[in-house]
Amino acid sequence: MNHSLIKKAIAMRKQAHAPYSKYFVGAAVETESGQIIGGCNIESSSYSLTCCAERVALFSSLAQDEFPIKALAVSTENGGSPCGACRQVIWDLCGEIPIYICDKNGLTKETTSSALLPGAFDQNFLK
Ligand code: THU
Repeated sequence: MNHSLIKKAIAMRKQAHAPYSKYFVGAAVETESGQIIGGCNIESSSYSLTCCAERVALFSSLAQDEFPIKALAVSTENGGSPCGACRQVIWDLCGEIPIYICDKNGLTKETTSSALLPGAFDQNFLK
């Protein structure tokens, strides 16, 4: 377990743009090259356009050419876990990786991408 990854996810809550829900979420990914890249939730007044912290971190990592991703951490006020949409994107982009779920103070649960999305649909069905 990488403490810097968890610290970054917790710190990223400060960047959250969540004026509607006021549910501030931070996330961070660790890449194979050892980089740690953060993300936060960014909400829209047209609520469904909101992007979760996990996806912002994942997409930022790819946009910086930092790939593969080997771990992800997410931090919320109360230890909330990734939503269904993020579970799919984590599986598609990362495959099987450890996921660290944190509240505002630290780690509350360690899991994996396959445990969060059993029986996933993925690229293998598209061949
Ligand atoms: N949210 C995340 O950023 N990640 C999750 O896994 C769950 C939900 C955000 C979306 C929205 O801005 C707020 O939390 C409330 O749903």
